[in-house]
Amino acid sequence: MPEIRPSDAPVHDLEADALIVGYDGDQIAAHPLLTDDVRAALTDAAAGLEPGVKPSAVVTTSGHGLGVAARRVVVVGLGKGTPRCLRYAAGTASRAVGKSAATVVVALPLETDAHATAVAEGLALGSYTYTDYKGAATSTEPVETSWQIAGASEQAVAAAMPVVESVLGARDLTNTPPRDLPPAVFAEIAETLAAPLGVTVEVWDEERLAAEGFGGIVGVGMGSSRPPRLVRVEWAPEGAEQSVAFVGKGITFDSGGLSLKPPKGMETMKSDMTGAGVALHTVLGAAKAQLRVKAVAWLCLAENLPSGTAQRPSDVVTTYNGITVEVLNTDAEGRMVLADGLARAIEEEPDAVIDIATLTGAQGIALGSRTSGVMGTEELRDEVVAASEAAAESMWPMPLPSYLRETYESKIADLKNIGDGTAGMIGAGVFLKEFVGETPWAHLDIARPAYNEGSPWGFTPAGGTGAAVRTLLQFLATRTQA
Ligand code: BES
Ligand code: MN
Ligand code: ZN
Repeated sequence: MPEIRPSDAPVHDLEADALIVGYDGDQIAAHPLLTDDVRAALTDAAAGLEPGVKPSAVVTTSGHGLGVAARRVVVVGLGKGTPRCLRYAAGTASRAVGKSAATVVVALPLETDAHATAVAEGLALGSYTYTDYKGAATSTEPVETSWQIAGASEQAVAAAMPVVESVLGARDLTNTPPRDLPPAVFAEIAETLAAPLGVTVEVWDEERLAAEGFGGIVGVGMGSSRPPRLVRVEWAPEGAEQSVAFVGKGITFDSGGLSLKPPKGMETMKSDMTGAGVALHTVLGAAKAQLRVKAVAWLCLAENLPSGTAQRPSDVVTTYNGITVEVLNTDAEGRMVLADGLARAIEEEPDAVIDIATLTGAQGIALGSRTSGVMGTEELRDEVVAASEAAAESMWPMPLPSYLRETYESKIADLKNIGDGTAGMIGAGVFLKEFVGETPWAHLDIARPAYNEGSPWGFTPAGGTGAAVRTLLQFLATRTQA
C-alpha cells in the first residue's frame, strides 16, 4: 500500500521529488495552497498543453526556476474537474511521476471531500505495478512513493483506502503466476486476509465437494494434480438488513482442458480466476469500510488442465442443484463451476446474487477490452449498471433472450455446456440462468476488462486491473441504505 496523507503547507515550500498540478482551461488550476506568482510561473512552463486538455494529457518539466522546492513539476489536464476526471488525472500523473520519486506533492483542485477521495484513489491505483517476480539480479529495489495531497482532509483520504486495498488486492491475485496460485493456496490466502477483519471463511476440499454433489467444480478440477476448492467468505455485521452473495469464477489457470486452447489463447489465462479475486476483495473491502450489509463471497476454484484424469468432451456431470450437464467442450468450464456456486449461494436466500466471471471471449468481441457486460434479472442488472456509473467503471446492460435456451438442449442430459456458437456472451448468461432460481441475479462478464494486455492508461496498469471491485463496493454501499 502506498503512503498517502493530507498536507496543509504552502505547496511551493514542500521539498519533494515531484509536484503534480492541474491544467484547467488555459492555465494552472487555482489551489488555496498555491500562490498566484507560482501559478503564473507554472502556467508558462505548461505551454505544451492545449486549452481544455483531457485528464490523459500530461507535461513534465524541471521545477528549477519556477519558485517551487519540488525538483520536477508534472502538469496534468483536469477535463471537467469532476471526481471522475480527477481520479483519472491523478492516475495519469502518478504514472508520469515515475518509479524513482520517493516524495510527491499533489496540488489538484479539490472542491469537496469526494474530489479528494477520488485523487487518493487515482494516485494509489495509477502508481501500482506488479514487481513480485522481478529478479534481484537485474532490478533495483522499488521506491515506495509517499504522496501528500495538499488541502485534503484526513477523512477524505482515509475513505479511499478500503477501495484502494481491494482493487490492488484483486490485481495482485490476477497477476500471480498460476504455478503459485493453485486452488488450495488461493483458499489459504482468503483465510489469511479475512482473519484480522472479523470475516469468516469456510473451505470445501475435493472430498467434501464430491460428497456434497458439486459435480461442476469437481469435473473441471479433475484434470489437475492440484484439486479444486469452494470457499465461502462472510462479512455479517450486526444490524445488517440486506444480504448479497458474490459468486466468483476462480479458474486458477484455463488451458481449455482436453478441448485445449491454442498457445496464444493461453497466455492470459492466469487471469481466469479474477472473478473469485474480485468477489473475495469486495467482501474484504466491505469489512474494511464497515459497511452495514451482509456480504458473502463464493470462490469457485479449480485448475482446468488436460491429463489422463481430466474430464472428456461428452462426459456428463450432475451439478449441485441436480441438473445434469453434458460437457461437450471442456473449455466452457467457467459456467460449470459457476453453476455449482450459484446453486449453493441461493440456498441461503440472499436478497441478491451477483456472479463475476472472465467467462467468454465473446465479451471482448461484443464490448471490447474496457467495457464489461452485465446480464441477469432486469432490475438487479440495471442496479449494477447504475453502480458502475457512480463508480466510473464501464459496464453495459445486455439481454438474455429466452430463445437461446433451446441451444443448450442435450440429446442425453438436461443441458449441454455450449450453445449453437452464436451470441457467446449472452448465451453463457442464458445457461447460468438455469441455476439461480427466483433470486434477483446479475452476471458480470469481465473477460477482457479483467486483464489489460496493452499499455497502462489513466489509473489502469498493464496486467490485472481489478475491474468490477469499485462497482461492487459501490453497489454494497447503496444496499446499506435500503
Ligand atoms: N476463460 C475463457 C474466456 C476468456 C477468453 C476470458 C479470452 C478472457 C479472454 C473461457 O473459459 C472460455 O474458454 N470460453 C470459451 C467458451 C466456448 C468454448 C463456448 C470461449 O469464449 O471461447
Ligand atoms: Mn475456458
Ligand atoms: Zn475460463
